[in-house]
Amino acid sequence: MDSVSFKINGKSHSVGCETSSDLSLLEYLRVRCELRGTKYMCREGGCGACVVAAATPGAKIGAVNSCLVSVTSCHDWEITTIEGIGNRLQGYHPIQKTLGKLHGSQCGYCSPGWVMAMYR
Ligand code: FES
Repeated sequence: MDSVSFKINGKSHSVGCETSSDLSLLEYLRVRCELRGTKYMCREGGCGACVVAAATPGAKIGAVNSCLVSVTSCHDWEITTIEGIGNRLQGYHPIQKTLGKLHGSQCGYCSPGWVMAMYR
């Protein structure tokens, strides 16, 4: 396989064989795509701040800890980040609205991860 192809918020992406398998999906989203709504804290699967939704081939959409996933393992995935479900300009998703309306966050840093864990 020459490249790993996937979609993020409906947009096609690919990484080539020069990409290290040490590059996490989290880093790819935040650094290469500048999608910094996906947060991080522990980088070891414990906090959930980095959760995104992903539909993998032959499977239903599910929540994925992006810090634990190598971007080189995302072939044919359809990834959705917090930016992809709603925002200030295009309108918020009902989960985002409900969290805000019911004061469902503390500092708010990991709220995107909570929203994406509930999203499906
Ligand atoms: Fe904590 Fe990914 S950064 S679970």
